[in-house]
Amino acid sequence: MHKAIPSLLLSAAVLLLAGCQPQQPAADTDTPVPVVQDESSSAADALFTMDDVATHATEQDCYTVVNENVYDVTSFISRHPGGAAKIIALCGTDGTAAFTGKHGGMPNQERTLASMRIGTLRE
Ligand code: HEM
Repeated sequence: MHKAIPSLLLSAAVLLLAGCQPQQPAADTDTPVPVVQDESSSAADALFTMDDVATHATEQDCYTVVNENVYDVTSFISRHPGGAAKIIALCGTDGTAAFTGKHGGMPNQERTLASMRIGTLRE
């Protein structure tokens, strides 16, 4: 009898362990899976008139146009290495001449601008 105790204990342990398998949570089909909005195709295809752009002409809400593309540069005003005033001067206006005159052909500035594009200027 006492020889059987270790094997009994062992099989009891095995049974116990088999019974403790972590339960796989059931697939949660109720929680909606967030749809990642493809910003490059939807929001950035919005159309604006110059009148629309002119309504975003403050430091707190600043749109500008460069080469018929519309940009929301509000968050960039305080980060502009050339100073906030240069950007504020473009708010609500067509900033093509000012931007291309100062930064035309400069990859870093053009990339920075491109990252703020929100749409296209409509005739
Ligand atoms: C939305 C329009 C603009 C964007 C996105 C922009 C972006 C930038 C960036 C990214 C830099 C840093 C460049 C670097 O160090 O690699 C810069 C610097 C500078 N920007 Fe602008 N900029 C804009 C408009 C302007 C305008 C209209 C002026 C002046 C007429 C101007 C004058 C300057 C100056 C003086 C500097 C400092 C360094 C330098 O002389 O290049 N920026 N800008």
